[in-house]
Amino acid sequence: MPLATGYILQDAYKRHYAVPAFSVHTFDMVDAVLAQAEQDAMPVLLMVGQRAIRNRQMQTLVDYICDAAPSFTIPIGIHLDHCRDNNQVIQAIRAGMTSFMMDASAHPFDVNVARTRAAVEACHAVDMPVEGELGAIGGVEDDISVRDEDAEVTSVEAAVRFVEETGVDSLAVAIGSAHGMYRREPKLDLQRLAEIYANTEIPLVLHGGSGIPRHQIAAALQLGIAKINFDTELRLGFMSGLKDAAEKFPDDPFHAMEHAKAALREVVREKIVFCRP
Ligand code: G3H
Ligand code: ZN
Repeated sequence: MPLATGYILQDAYKRHYAVPAFSVHTFDMVDAVLAQAEQDAMPVLLMVGQRAIRNRQMQTLVDYICDAAPSFTIPIGIHLDHCRDNNQVIQAIRAGMTSFMMDASAHPFDVNVARTRAAVEACHAVDMPVEGELGAIGGVEDDISVRDEDAEVTSVEAAVRFVEETGVDSLAVAIGSAHGMYRREPKLDLQRLAEIYANTEIPLVLHGGSGIPRHQIAAALQLGIAKINFDTELRLGFMSGLKDAAEKFPDDPFHAMEHAKAALREVVREKIVFCRP
C-alpha cells in the first residue's frame, strides 16, 4: 500500500482508537515494527525524531520506509517528531514525510502560536498535516529535558485558542505523561483531557507512551486521544533483545538480529493492543 496520508488520525479520533506512533532508529527497527503492525492489521506511524536526525538517518529511514510500504496492506505514515526548528519543515517535506510535529511548547504562548502557524502554512501547502504541542510534557526527549516541577498541564482555554490561531490538525497535550520510563505509575489528568476533548474538535496526541498502564490509555482513547507516541520502551526492548542475542548467537549476526527484532516485536504487539478501542 502506498504511504497513508497524514490524516490517518481522523478515523482513529472518530472510532476511539489510537494510531500507535513508534520511533524508529534503524532499518531493523523499521522491519520489526512494520511486520508486527501488519500481523496485527493496525495502521501505524513510524516516527523519525531528533535523535535519528542527529544520527543523519532522516532521509535514509524515510527512503527505506517508502521502499518497504508497498509490500504491506496496512496504512503506514512517516512522521517527523518534536521538531523545534522551523527550518526542518522544508527538510521534512522534501524528505517525503507524511506528517510533521512542530514543538514550540517551550516558548511563550504567542511564540508557540507563531512558530506553529508558520509550520502549518508551509505543510498545508503540500497537504501535510501538522501536530502542535501546548503545555510542557515532562521527562527527557532526545536533547530536551523538562523537570517534573516544570511540566505544565495544558489549559483548556489556551488549547481552544491555540487550535484556532494555528490551524493545527492534531494537538499534543500535557496531561501528566512524561518522556522516558516513569519512576512511579503516571496518573493522567483525565478530567482535564475530557475538558480539552469537549472544547476542541481535533485528534489529541499523548506523548510519553512508554510505561503508561493499559487502563489509563483505554480511558484516554474515549476522550480524544488518537495518536500515542512510544520510543523508550522500544529502544530498551530492542537493546535487551540484542544483549540476549549476543549470548545466544555469539557468531551468528543474522539469527542474533532476528532474535532482537522478535524482542522488539513483543513490545510493539503490546502497545498495539493498548491502542485498540
Ligand atoms: O515523542 C516521542 C514520545 O513522546 C516518546 O515517549 O519515550 O516515553 O515512549 P516515550
Ligand atoms: Zn514526545
